[in-house]
Amino acid sequence: MGINIMSFGYYVPEQTLTNNDFTRFVETNDEWIRTRTGIVERRMAGWEPTWYMGAQASLKAIEKAGISPEDIGLIITTTVTSDFLTPSMASVIQDKVGAVNSAAFDLNAACTGFIYALDTARRFLATDDNLKYVLVVATEALSRFIDFNDRGSCILFGDGAAAVVVEKSDKLYASHLASDGSGASYLCARSLNIAPEVKIENGFDDGFTDNPLHKLYQNGKEVYKFATNVLPKSFNIIASKIGITKEDVDWFIPHQANVRIIETAAKKLGVSMDKFVVTLDHYGNTSSASIPLAFAEAVEDGRIKRGDKLALIGFGAGLTYGGIVMEY
Ligand code: UT7
Repeated sequence: MGINIMSFGYYVPEQTLTNNDFTRFVETNDEWIRTRTGIVERRMAGWEPTWYMGAQASLKAIEKAGISPEDIGLIITTTVTSDFLTPSMASVIQDKVGAVNSAAFDLNAACTGFIYALDTARRFLATDDNLKYVLVVATEALSRFIDFNDRGSCILFGDGAAAVVVEKSDKLYASHLASDGSGASYLCARSLNIAPEVKIENGFDDGFTDNPLHKLYQNGKEVYKFATNVLPKSFNIIASKIGITKEDVDWFIPHQANVRIIETAAKKLGVSMDKFVVTLDHYGNTSSASIPLAFAEAVEDGRIKRGDKLALIGFGAGLTYGGIVMEY
């Protein structure tokens, strides 16, 4: 059983931060950021909480799907920047959109979150005959926990949200979900209850304890190596599962972290960059929201059409990775 993405909705914050704006916080320049990452500008949440962006994206997706919020049976929200430790963002969004008959939970698989959530939605739809519609919402406000003193990471991230309404279908669908926890310390931020002075033997101490509490720490080089390896790997695993080749895919929609990562993966796969959807130039890395934002934009501007075969591939903290090959 596959799924049909009935509709998209997205919301990005009003405020835009250009590369030049970062020269106020750190020693950097537009040229370095453009050539090393491909990023030109990104949105930054000001007054908008994470739940708000997710709810706005969800309301648009529900309206476009032409369904009643009451018909939604499950909401899965993906985020690494929840406004609360509890309740979940999904429960807050449920209330804001009026999905009174829905179950709701958050899923944290970092930047791979949308892949994990869409696959989870498919599994729920496949096993529950009473479930008609699932709302998957990716909403992120990375700007609230990046370290604006760290020039290697603060310039990468942006905020935004995207949502989809999905239903059962017999369209092509295959997935691959994975994680390599041995790289957990390469991309991480402490939660509220562990003080930085607490030492954990064989834990996350390497290169992490000196970082400011609740701020994102990243070993860029290690994550870069990981990303350029798993993007082609994940696609090849799915392709061999269902006997397709890269030529069968109309569009690749990768996680939007760094255009050099995408270019390297494209080269390894032997696929032209023309087949990759890239939105990081104007949104930066919006973690789990990056794939659905890119997807939504390419549908809106007419690049992706119904019937197109797509490869969505994510990677991120965890280190998690995975992909979905599906028909739109
Ligand atoms: O969702 C997944 C999350 N993350 C990623 O996917 C990130 C993966 N990693 C990357 O994208 C890249 O590793 C970065 C963009 C983070 C860094 O690019 P790089 O080409 O690996 O640069 P580097 O870390 O090797 O740094 C090269 C130089 C260093 O200076 P020195 O030591 O050569 O003098 C850095 O200090 O560039 C310097 N640098 C900067 N200079 C100006 C680092 N950040 C900046 C900056 N502006 N913002």
